[in-house]
Amino acid sequence: MPEEAPESLLALVDRVNDVSPLPGIVAQMMDVCNDPAAGAGNVAGVIGRDVALAARVVRTANSAYYAVGREITDIPGAVVRLGMSAIRNIVVGMNLAKLYRGPVDAETGFSRGELWKHSVAVSLLSDMIARRSKLPATRQLAGEAFLVGLLHDIGVVLEDEHARDIYAQTPWSVRAEDETLSKAERRLMGFDHQALGAAVLEKWQFPEVIRQAVGAHHRPASSAHNPLIQVVALAEILAADARLGYCDIPRAADAVLEGRLRSLNLSRYEAQKISQETCEKLPDALEIFAGSC
Ligand SMILES: [Fe+2]
Ligand SMILES: [Fe+2]
Repeated sequence: MPEEAPESLLALVDRVNDVSPLPGIVAQMMDVCNDPAAGAGNVAGVIGRDVALAARVVRTANSAYYAVGREITDIPGAVVRLGMSAIRNIVVGMNLAKLYRGPVDAETGFSRGELWKHSVAVSLLSDMIARRSKLPATRQLAGEAFLVGLLHDIGVVLEDEHARDIYAQTPWSVRAEDETLSKAERRLMGFDHQALGAAVLEKWQFPEVIRQAVGAHHRPASSAHNPLIQVVALAEILAADARLGYCDIPRAADAVLEGRLRSLNLSRYEAQKISQETCEKLPDALEIFAGSC
């Protein structure tokens, strides 16, 4: 967390951590996946401690989204089919999805469900963008790109959960004054959802490459050293263009889109294909995360 972080941000991070600590199963999965010595057996061991999660992971391995070939009936088989990083992403996504449930706010029109749809869309887009980028360093981070997509706007839902008195004013302000969500947040609270998300993920001990990308996903120009920031910034543009869930950015000008595509060495045609595939995959992906564990 930056040393100059405002008091209001530090207080909110502590409140989040007290009231909504990272679920134990997510922390265990993150530990296993961050340990270079750990393997598929360790992942299977963590999943095996939670019967509901184990059943869900085996079911997911046989879902239309992942299934190829024979039916999987056990946890080791599911780990082999899905891979460690996909299982970590599923465990995080299932637990995160619970935080995004709730009715549409009658006053502001803010919908956590629409924000969740946006987050899952950005994760699918980010995963495909990273995989299809012609830059090897970016391709290697595809599993992380999916996770950043899921987590990138966690600050928004945490503000809605823990700072509603102030945050309730934000969506109105954005519409009324045509300013970006981040600008409105900084004016109202002194920090934005990028800073809150990154600070909470630091408290929860997520890897730096993930926290950095969450903390700068609306400022790609300032952060060329972390390819995930470019990836998620392009995913945001494509999600807004396709109107996939809540939008926290205005529609991007053509020149901005071209610049983002160039930074990842992708063509406009490839971006259109990625958007189209995301629209097709989104219902299945939402279904995978919908079950509670
Ligand atoms: Fe955002
Ligand atoms: Fe977003």
